[in-house]
Amino acid sequence: MNWINRIKINQKILGSIIASLLFLSLILGIIIWNSLTDTMAKDLKKHGESVAENIAAMSSDYILIEDYYAIHQLIARARQANEDIRYILVFNSKQMLVGHTFPDFIPKGILDAHTPQGTEKELSILTSDEGRIHDVLVPIEEGEVGFVRVGMSEKLPKEYTLSKIGDLILATILVCLVAVGIAYFTTRIITKPINDLVDTASGISAGNLSLRASVVDDEDLGKLVKVFNEMADNLISSRSKVEKLLEELQEKERLRDALISKLLSAQEDERKRISRELHDETSQALASLMVTMRVLADEAEDKEQQELLYTSRDIAAGILREIRDLAVELRPPILDDMGLIPAVKRYIESFKEKYSIDVMLEVPDDSIPLDDQTSLAFYRITQECLTNIAKHTVATKVTIKIQVEDNFIKIAILDNGQGIQKADFEMARQQNRIGIYGMKERAALLGGEFLIQEARTGGTEVVVAIPIKQKEG
Ligand SMILES: Nc1ncnc2c1ncn2[C@@H]1O[C@H](COP(=O)(O)OP(=O)(O)O)[C@@H](O)[C@H]1O
Ligand SMILES: [Mg+2]
Repeated sequence: MNWINRIKINQKILGSIIASLLFLSLILGIIIWNSLTDTMAKDLKKHGESVAENIAAMSSDYILIEDYYAIHQLIARARQANEDIRYILVFNSKQMLVGHTFPDFIPKGILDAHTPQGTEKELSILTSDEGRIHDVLVPIEEGEVGFVRVGMSEKLPKEYTLSKIGDLILATILVCLVAVGIAYFTTRIITKPINDLVDTASGISAGNLSLRASVVDDEDLGKLVKVFNEMADNLISSRSKVEKLLEELQEKERLRDALISKLLSAQEDERKRISRELHDETSQALASLMVTMRVLADEAEDKEQQELLYTSRDIAAGILREIRDLAVELRPPILDDMGLIPAVKRYIESFKEKYSIDVMLEVPDDSIPLDDQTSLAFYRITQECLTNIAKHTVATKVTIKIQVEDNFIKIAILDNGQGIQKADFEMARQQNRIGIYGMKERAALLGGEFLIQEARTGGTEVVVAIPIKQKEG
């Protein structure tokens, strides 16, 4: 019954009006047809009887004196006066035909179709090519002289009945048309506010928030329209609130991004500066101190003093190495000079030496054209991941895979430690640790994605993908 719900309300009203009208006219048609055919049969019989009785009375003498011409004239006149009469037949007492109204020939079988059964008038219904004939038989002088048969055709009255039914059908169609017209206008009046409301609601949902439904007099509908319009008003105010909030949020986001980017670059600059200072100034000073100590040691006369100076020089040499390592770790010149892969390789070498953790590096054969920002981000992420592994896990093995995929450079770092749990993140957040957070931000600032999760094979997996930009310059 789904289709019923899909029909519009005015179509439903119209449809039911038309259906009732059609049903009514069908019933009326049947009643009229029945009553008209019934009356017609009665009329035909009565009429036929009166004509036959008249002729019986008037033709009696003519039959006796065998004046067939007079009989012919009598029945011809009667036939002419009545269109319903199909034929008149006059028989004498020997049942011989003495007069008829057929112009050319007498249809076959008609003479034997109805013979008198007694001395009373009788009715017999005959069927012919032209429809049913009501054949009325009236004896003359109780059959002593003969009898008269009058055939009354149903044709004319039937045509009349049919024309009446035709009128009825026409009238029904007219009434239907008028009813449809009236129903159309009344349903339009009734459903207009509802349709308006529907149109307004569709318009609003399509984004035109300024639309309002027009006010109506009807009490219930009026209430609905009022509430609807209030709802639309609220929609506008809440939407502008949301838009304002969204704008503020976007502004904050922009500010935050700018701040983080500034922070990261300030950190990098500072690292670069300290690295250079350590390398250029501190290392130089230490180196010259070492030269001085060696000269002093070489010239010393006291053996014990000389030993002490040599040992001090060795200590200074150790400090110099450490300072150089520190300078490299802060900002490896190799990253700027030779790019990401050599820098990562070098970092891994020193990491392996320091922590005895096995690190496997898989890189593509071709060189990757990376911009400085992305190189630096990948280097720092590798550094942070390896430091985390050394600091927080029992891992003995790390696999680092760098690959280029669909214009993205992707790094995946997998360790065989105990894996990372949700609680670890929570704890780190509570203690304001920003290692993982920093990696995520670095990736986001370059339009990339960052993922840290427990690997399927156990251990922790960090995946970072950053879209490749062509190296500037
Ligand atoms: N590879 C790893 N395996 C297991 N846990 C890890 C790993 N990396 C980080 N974690 C956990 O996540 C926490 C947050 O790391 P991070 O943000 O780098 O801060 P921090 O290194 O200063 O502790 C760490 O304290 C540690 O518990
Ligand atoms: Mg860390």
